[in-house]
Amino acid sequence: MFAGLAALAGCGSPGSASKGNSGTLTFANRLRVPPLLEPVVTKDGTRQFSLTMQAGRTELLPGRPTATWGFNGPFLGPTVRAKRGDRVAMRVHNKLGEPSTVHWHGMRLPAAMDGGPHQMIEPGGTWTPRWTIDQPAATSWYHPHPHGTTAAHVYRGLAGLFLLDDPATAALGLPSTYGVDDVPLVLQDKILDPNGVLLEDPKPTWGLIGDQILVNGVHDPFFEVTTTLVRLRILNGSSARMYHVEFADRRRFHVIGTDAGLLAAPVPVERVQLSPGERLEILVEFAPRDQVVLRSVAGDNGIDEGDYDLLKFVAADRLTPRPPVPGRLAATPRIEVPADARERRFRLSGSDEINGREMDMARIDEVVPAGATEIWHVENTVYAHNFHIHEVAFEVLDIDGQQPPAYLRGPKDTVFVPGKSTVRLAVQFGHFTDPKTPYMYHCHILRHEDKGMMGQFVIVRPGTEASVPRTLPTHHHHG
Ligand code: C2O
Ligand code: CU
Ligand code: CU
Repeated sequence: MFAGLAALAGCGSPGSASKGNSGTLTFANRLRVPPLLEPVVTKDGTRQFSLTMQAGRTELLPGRPTATWGFNGPFLGPTVRAKRGDRVAMRVHNKLGEPSTVHWHGMRLPAAMDGGPHQMIEPGGTWTPRWTIDQPAATSWYHPHPHGTTAAHVYRGLAGLFLLDDPATAALGLPSTYGVDDVPLVLQDKILDPNGVLLEDPKPTWGLIGDQILVNGVHDPFFEVTTTLVRLRILNGSSARMYHVEFADRRRFHVIGTDAGLLAAPVPVERVQLSPGERLEILVEFAPRDQVVLRSVAGDNGIDEGDYDLLKFVAADRLTPRPPVPGRLAATPRIEVPADARERRFRLSGSDEINGREMDMARIDEVVPAGATEIWHVENTVYAHNFHIHEVAFEVLDIDGQQPPAYLRGPKDTVFVPGKSTVRLAVQFGHFTDPKTPYMYHCHILRHEDKGMMGQFVIVRPGTEASVPRTLPTHHHHG
């Protein structure tokens, strides 16, 4: 199943649990900020972005050049940025030597453009999806989604941010100078052997829980703060690791956005959690000459062991003033659940099953009428999982009957589901219908997704649900 297991032979036990790095970093390396990808604007105004999936070498740890993968470079990918109303066209070229896909995680778009496992790009091939951005401002991302090899492809470095803007958000005066006071932080954990080989699959239950944490691909990083307020867009781009992020001085900060867009108002917190695939936007205040470490503290979910320093912020002697944290944000209207909303139940068991079945590319598990708002119950019968639904935005109604903290209610597309608990989601589905092309829902712990903890749904014209074929002709690809 995994293409890169050979690396496991002949090194010290990679299972030797990573118990943290507290106090061991020197914060010697300037944080790299992924470059913004410049589109070509075609005659009809479409913004065309080109991404090439390629292999390369990267010094992830000093003195240990590592074979990695990236978009338009050896590791990670550039940041794509577009605004509501833009027509975008992507040209995704695969130079990897094996099939892959690119999924736009968080994007509301037709299923055939989604980049899931049914939209394979053969080696040497180019995929050209296009759509119109029609959703609120948000921090989304893109990554491969080939069934069975997603974990390996993402882990080797194929991931990038896809930022969405809209006029209402632009009017709020939030910090928005990319790389200066609006800074993405892609958190990923790795295990490297002494020769710099990325170890891919050391833990039977979870897949990879690494002992080296990179921020935007940089080990031991610092960021120079030049403004009084900084907006951080944090992505958990890890295979399985969960983060509990706080500042070492326990300063308060404000959450302003979750996966699918801004909150109604900033929520003050001291710590936030992110399971794989989740994003948060936060605002942090700094004083001149501040020096403070951003860290992740251990939890007890099995995927969050160890205390890890992530990144040191070093503020300049003089900071450029920014407006204070706004009292309100461009509120996306809350999701209204109709009294007769359809309810569906999803039972997660083991590390590879939903409702007692593994993913089958040829099976449509759920048929949803376009524009529906439904309640999805996700019951986790075992250890920690999470749950991501393509194409939608949802709000978390409750976790075991309790309201989640305000910053975790949403709008979201990925939710942490603690072991032996049930989350209820109010899910708002989109309007693109296609009875033959499914979207995915799955655990975003990538090994679980690869093993089959995933299902497929189609969105169809209301009233046609009963006549939709439940099987698909598929041409299976094996990575
Ligand atoms: Cu981020 Cu179906 O994935
Ligand atoms: Cu997705
Ligand atoms: Cu899982």
